[in-house]
Amino acid sequence: MKKDMPYKTYLAEHEMPTAWYNMKADMTEKPDPMLNPGTKAPLTVDELAGIFSFEMAKQELDAENRFIPIPDEIREFLLMYRPTPLVRAYFLEEALETPARIFYKYEGGNTSGSHKLNTAIAQAYYAKKQGLKGLTTETGAGQWGTALAMACAYLDLDLHVFMVKCSALQKPYRKIVMETYGANVYQSPSTITEAGRAILAADPECSGSLGTAISEAVEFALKDGGYRYCLGSVLDQVLLHQSIIGLETDAALKKLGVVPDIVIGCAGGGSNLGGLIAPFVKDKMAGKTSPRLIAVEPASCPSLTKGEYRYDFCDLSEVTPLAKMYTLGHDFIPAPGHAGGLRYHGMSPILSKLYHDGHMEARSITQKETFDAATFFAKHEGTLPAPESAHAIAIAVEEAKACRESGEAKNIVFGLTGNGTFDLAAYDAYRKGLLD
Ligand SMILES: Cc1ncc(COP(=O)(O)O)c(C=O)c1O
Repeated sequence: MKKDMPYKTYLAEHEMPTAWYNMKADMTEKPDPMLNPGTKAPLTVDELAGIFSFEMAKQELDAENRFIPIPDEIREFLLMYRPTPLVRAYFLEEALETPARIFYKYEGGNTSGSHKLNTAIAQAYYAKKQGLKGLTTETGAGQWGTALAMACAYLDLDLHVFMVKCSALQKPYRKIVMETYGANVYQSPSTITEAGRAILAADPECSGSLGTAISEAVEFALKDGGYRYCLGSVLDQVLLHQSIIGLETDAALKKLGVVPDIVIGCAGGGSNLGGLIAPFVKDKMAGKTSPRLIAVEPASCPSLTKGEYRYDFCDLSEVTPLAKMYTLGHDFIPAPGHAGGLRYHGMSPILSKLYHDGHMEARSITQKETFDAATFFAKHEGTLPAPESAHAIAIAVEEAKACRESGEAKNIVFGLTGNGTFDLAAYDAYRKGLLD
C-alpha cells in the first residue's frame, strides 16, 4: 500500500476487507454451469477468456475458493471511497413510528453514484494487467458506464460504452460524465454494429434494453483482440466483487451486536443484492442464522416473480453464453421505466438458484410505489435515492410498518445502492403524477 496515505485513510484501510467472499463455495446446491451455446457443454476458462480478461474468466468459473485476495492496487483505489457508511435510519424509524431498527448501506457516495465502481475497478485492473488495450460495455441507467469510465481513466484503458437509448435520452448528463473520463459513448441500438443495425431494421423506434446493448458491446469487443467485454451485473465475478458490500455490513453489524432479521436489496441483474447478502447466505447455509433475504424488482421487468427458471442467452442477439437463470426471455424489451438499472430480462444465476431453492424471497413493485418510497426517504433521511435503490426502500418501509402492527423490534438492513442526482426528470414526472 502507498506509504503516504493520510491518517484517516489508514484507519479506513483496517476496516476494509482484504479478500472477496465467493458465496458459491459455500452453497450446498451449486448454480448450474454456463453453457457454450453451440455445443451446449459447460464453458471452459479458455472459451470465456475470448470474451472476458483471463482472470475474470477464471473468477467466473471458480466455485472452490471461498476467499479471493483483493490485490493491493485495487484496494488502494477502493480506499478512495470505502468503507462506505452503514447508516442507522433513525429519522425514518421515527417517521414510521416503528419499533424496528432500520440500517442501510450507502453506496452512492462516489462520483459514479453507485456500487458499480466496486467491480469496475477489478475488471479494469485485470484487463490492464493482461496488457489489453481497452474494454467495451453496455450501460442502462449510466452508473455502470460511469463507473467503468472512472476505472479505465485511472488505469489508462480505452473504453467504448453502449448506452440503452431510452436511458440516454432520459439522462443526457450521464454521457457527459462518461466522456469527461474519456469514454466513447454510443446510443444503443446504434448503427455502428451489425447487431444494432439488425435491431433497428426490425424496429426503427426500438428504445433499447440491456440485452440489445450487450449484443453490441460483445460484438465490438470480439472484432479486436486488444479488447475485452465487461458486464456490470448478473455474472458470478460481479457478485464476487460486490461481496465487499456484505462483508463491510456484516463487520459493522457485528461491532454493534446486531443480527439482521431481514436483508433487502433491489435486483436488476442481482449484483448489489448478491454482494450484500453473501455473508448472510453463508451463515444461513451453515444453520447459524436465518434472516429473510428479499429481492425487489420493478413490476415492469419482473424476472424473478414472473420469469421462468431455464437456460437463456444474456443478450438479445444470442452472442453470449447460455446461463441458467430466471428470465423473461432474451427478446423481452421492458417498458422504458425510470429505474434503468433494473431493466434486464434475466437474473444472476447465483440469486436465481437461491430463489429457486427457497433461500430468498422476491417482490415486485410499481414505479408509483417506488417514487412514493423514494420521496418519503429523501424527506426524512436526507439522501435523494436512485430509483433503483428506492425499490429496496419501499419494501424496507413495508416491513417496518408490519413491525409497527406486530410490535416486533426486527433488525432490517437494506442496500441503498445509489443516489438520484441524475434522476431528476423521473422525480419531476412523479411530482406531475405521470408515473403509475
Ligand atoms: C443505483 C443502482 N442500483 C441497482 C442497480 C441494479 O443492478 P444490480 O442488480 O446488478 O445491483 C443499478 C444498475 O445499474 C444501479 O445503477
